[in-house]
Amino acid sequence: MSVITATSAVPPLHSPRSAPRPRVAMMVRSSSAVSAASILTKLHSDCATPLPLLRQVAHAMAADMRAGLAADGASDLKMILSFVDSLPTGDENGLYYALDLGGTNFRVMRVQLGGKEGRVVATEFDQVPIPHELMFATSEELFDFIASKLAKFVEKEGGKFESRPGRTREVGFTFSFAVKQTSINSGVLIKWTKGFAVSGTEGRDVVACLNEAMGRQGLNMRVSALVNDTVGALAGARYWDDNVMVAVILGTGTNASYVERVDNIPKLHAPKSAGGSTIINTEWGAFSRGLPLTEFDREMDAASINPGQQIFEKTISGMYLGEIVRRVLHRMAKDATLFGDSIPEKLQMPFSLRTPDICTMQQDSSKDLEVVGSILYDVAGVNSKLESRKIVVDVCETIAKRGGRLAGAGIVGILQKMEGDSKGAVFGKRTVVAMDGGLYEHYPEYRRHLQDAVTELLGPEISKNIIVQHSKDGSGIGAALLAATNSIYPH
Ligand code: BGC
Repeated sequence: MSVITATSAVPPLHSPRSAPRPRVAMMVRSSSAVSAASILTKLHSDCATPLPLLRQVAHAMAADMRAGLAADGASDLKMILSFVDSLPTGDENGLYYALDLGGTNFRVMRVQLGGKEGRVVATEFDQVPIPHELMFATSEELFDFIASKLAKFVEKEGGKFESRPGRTREVGFTFSFAVKQTSINSGVLIKWTKGFAVSGTEGRDVVACLNEAMGRQGLNMRVSALVNDTVGALAGARYWDDNVMVAVILGTGTNASYVERVDNIPKLHAPKSAGGSTIINTEWGAFSRGLPLTEFDREMDAASINPGQQIFEKTISGMYLGEIVRRVLHRMAKDATLFGDSIPEKLQMPFSLRTPDICTMQQDSSKDLEVVGSILYDVAGVNSKLESRKIVVDVCETIAKRGGRLAGAGIVGILQKMEGDSKGAVFGKRTVVAMDGGLYEHYPEYRRHLQDAVTELLGPEISKNIIVQHSKDGSGIGAALLAATNSIYPH
């Protein structure tokens, strides 16, 4: 596979902070009643994830999956039918496009497929950050933005990639939000997540929204597959490895998809082909049972744009880990003079501490924790002492550990559900869980805690068969592959 051009505007995870220097601490704290150590001790105990708790989480995840498969609305887990009944075989051929909207960035991609011989011949992509104001804009404004970026991308080709005469260019649209699919290329947005609050899209077919916007740009393109990012990741990873059965995204948000037998889906009333299978998008971010939550989680949830929803996502995914840590540090500054006599003003700003920051702080192996000191200075405007820095690192580790271990328990829940339905089909052979998303990719401690939980829960023997592995950027290629599989033109 050759990447011809790749323009990227994503900041690397460990990018130096470019934000202006914060104003130094302003608010003076009330007299200190508790110590930072006692807040930390309580945090440890509230966030603890011992094996019995993880077992219960895995068990509840499996039970919620079954309930969601039985009937719509019967579970936190929507268990959405993806309408992807056949995964890529390797025979896919031709030129396809993929659009990816789902988090902080929007991506447009061109993929040339060369069948069994050539496989993925070439990919090219452009990636742009989603302007923050678009997350609160109207549906038309958001989709016009997407279509305009697509039009620019196609325009840059300068006629190099003309589609065959009489053919419309086909697109796989990865739309990483909870969508009730109505066919492989249509689906209604149920609910925005990850901080998006665009008006006028919920309840609408997102492919129709895109088609209208493409029409306004004069683009002659059609969406042949609408896929969730986890479904794209599963298709993309499966293209290279037949043993991939589950795909998990751990990035800004989180979710998992897996291969399910159609006769295990009571809510699917259509005729079932015996032995047939399909991909189910669990929307596990909405899972909520038995999670070890703290007062900081509850406060963050209450202040969010979707209170009471996406509780698993708010406990384990990249959008929220930094914010939970910020809330703990703010409390320590306010009630226990962690940073001296005043409360750093910037530390009061929601989301001022990002998950990449807490990851970078955890990597600091210097004697004086200098990196921690400089991040705290940038984020909170404080000159911290070594003792405070150590406490900060401990808070980061506590929140990352809880997130990673709970994600691991979720994965085991899915695997146990699958194994429970067909003994030996999952645990008795090599089974791959394809992982993607910035949090998983860039946060080594989180990844380690996730793997530890999987191994502890499954035990040494079964764990040998379960491969949890990173499958980078599968979802873009996966969407293009699914556009090919569902093309209206003969291959
Ligand atoms: C969305 C999912 C998506 C996940 C990962 C969640 O907030 O509801 O549809 O797959 O984020 O991007």
